[in-house]
Amino acid sequence: MGRVNILLLYDVLRWEEKSFIETAKKLDISIIPVHIPTIYGEVGNGSSLDFSGADIGLQRSVSFYNSLESTILVESYGIDVINKSYTIMICQDKLWTTSLLIKNKIPVPKTYVSFNHDTAPKIAEKLGYPFVIKPVYGSWGRLLALIDDEEDMRSIIEHRTYMHNPIHSIYYIQEFVRKPGRDIRVFTVGDEVPVAIYRYSSHWITNTARGGKAVTAHIDPELEDLALRTAGVVEGHFLGIDVFEDPERGYLVNEVNAVTEFKNTVAVTGYDLTRKVLEHISSLVRR
Ligand SMILES: Nc1ncnc2c1ncn2[C@@H]1O[C@H](COP(=O)(O)OP(=O)(O)O)[C@@H](O)[C@H]1O
Ligand SMILES: [Mg+2]
Repeated sequence: MGRVNILLLYDVLRWEEKSFIETAKKLDISIIPVHIPTIYGEVGNGSSLDFSGADIGLQRSVSFYNSLESTILVESYGIDVINKSYTIMICQDKLWTTSLLIKNKIPVPKTYVSFNHDTAPKIAEKLGYPFVIKPVYGSWGRLLALIDDEEDMRSIIEHRTYMHNPIHSIYYIQEFVRKPGRDIRVFTVGDEVPVAIYRYSSHWITNTARGGKAVTAHIDPELEDLALRTAGVVEGHFLGIDVFEDPERGYLVNEVNAVTEFKNTVAVTGYDLTRKVLEHISSLVRR
């Protein structure tokens, strides 16, 4: 088989997307960049976008809505996308992810949900302070709140009430996990777990986008197994999985990212994750 043609679906060219384009040049891969904001296509008719030469897609959009919907469009042409729309949707929804992980016996933080500003305080009674409230759709550590007492709870309910967005009447509430000043971001590519980082921070939110410091992490067999089982549950090919180390229970899977950034991971570990992903995607085509 000859060259593999990969559609790179993007809206912003970050370090990661440029790295895919540059690395592909060294491999037998051609990248067809697809700038999502400027395309339009007929659903089910690939010739409307001239995607006839494409073997497979790689979804890299920064926007959740663009990533999901453009993946669905490309899938309508019979072209697989990494990750697929199902995976993107499950991972976007923290409640859906948590629910599927629990069903598959993967340890997660204790999590409650309510659907109304009035019922949310009842969760406080069950869980006890402190706890964490998150948007069910969220990323980069945005709009997370650590709730220490009744006054914090009252204040966040008031904020959410006046935001007038129906998504904010969904309360996704989690026990506050006593992490050892860090958490783990582990990457899966196909059925491998090539690299992981610890994210250290004096703040409880450790996202590197929020100043968390990345350090190469050790992948023990238990972490590897957990990451692969998690990838299996969400049916993902290339994932960034957040894992907590609970002092008593050990590893807990916090969330899964289906369109993941990895610039800091490559910078710190020196591991060529870009190449690994491109080789995996090519192997899917060549199979
Ligand atoms: N239940 C929790 N207990 C302790 N820390 C948490 C908890 N949930 C989130 N965090 C911290 O906040 C960060 C961001 O939360 P996360 O659920 O990963 O949302 P996002 O999608 O914004 O990354 C996590 O990486 C972790 O450092
Ligand atoms: Mg996260």
